[in-house]
Amino acid sequence: MKGIKGVFFSPTGTSERVLNAVIEGSGRSCPSLVNLTYEESFCDFKKEDVVLFTFPVYAGRIPLTALDRMRNLRGEGTRAVVIVVYGNRAFDDALLELADVVESQGFVVISAAAFIGEHSYSNEIYPIASGRPDTRDLEKARQYGGNLADLLNGAIETAKPPVPGNRPYRERVPDNPVHPITDEDLCTLCMDCADVCPTGAIDKASPSETDGRKCIKCCACIKVCRAGARTFQDPGIQAITEKLFNHFGERQEPEFFF
Ligand SMILES: Cc1cc2nc3c(=O)[nH]c(=O)nc-3n(C[C@H](O)[C@H](O)[C@H](O)COP(=O)(O)O)c2cc1C
Ligand code: SF4
Ligand code: SF4
Repeated sequence: MKGIKGVFFSPTGTSERVLNAVIEGSGRSCPSLVNLTYEESFCDFKKEDVVLFTFPVYAGRIPLTALDRMRNLRGEGTRAVVIVVYGNRAFDDALLELADVVESQGFVVISAAAFIGEHSYSNEIYPIASGRPDTRDLEKARQYGGNLADLLNGAIETAKPPVPGNRPYRERVPDNPVHPITDEDLCTLCMDCADVCPTGAIDKASPSETDGRKCIKCCACIKVCRAGARTFQDPGIQAITEKLFNHFGERQEPEFFF
């Protein structure tokens, strides 16, 4: 049986975990995973490949950095599955945007899905989808992988999936140079934050120096910091976090589209 290939962008790891569970559930081998979290990739996929694109949702869209890093991935009528992972608010137009971009690069979308991951802004005081994807989500991701295997084996009829979303897509949030800051009294200079930053925004020699123009607010540096030294102190981000906690606590469930 032919393998499935994966392409992902996942600063805080939830999209990657969902993708791995889907692949596991498909029962197929996965000869290649393209990780766009830290760098761009150049890759031509073959007609017989099946590629699973898995990305997080940022403000109802696919993060620009991720789209930028996938612009040199090409298909030749290659079958693709598009998956988004969102933080329990909504995925808005992100899944449709991903399907459109993938198709414009030579792929044919055969299925789509949306999963839930712990919100990047989630913290101990304001937990938002904390710990997700959890056991139930990962079981559903494996189930979806099984459905994809059936689709590829011809057990389910292939049709253009009804991908939800609107065109024109929701407007992007304007750039804002805010970034997490480092409490130098707590910082142990381990440099884990600089290592996980997808855009090289954190100075490799001095982690209290962050370039706000490069920061995509992914929160990877905050989540990786074992000393609790990285936090967002920006009032705007704090207000959004509080609002998400207060208004989007009801559990959303994964959805599949065939
Ligand atoms: C800048 C930014 C914007 C986000 N916007 C949304 C959103 O519009 N809707 C939502 O439900 N979650 C949103 N999230 C949460 C992420 O989609 C979610 O945490 C996802 O699981 C992160 O994926 P990753 O772990 O692969 O990085 C946002 C996160 C960030 C950092
Ligand atoms: S991960 Fe935390 S402790 Fe380590 S260098 Fe960064 S801020 Fe300092
Ligand atoms: S500095 Fe910004 S881009 Fe880099 S890991 Fe932290 S939040 Fe993400």
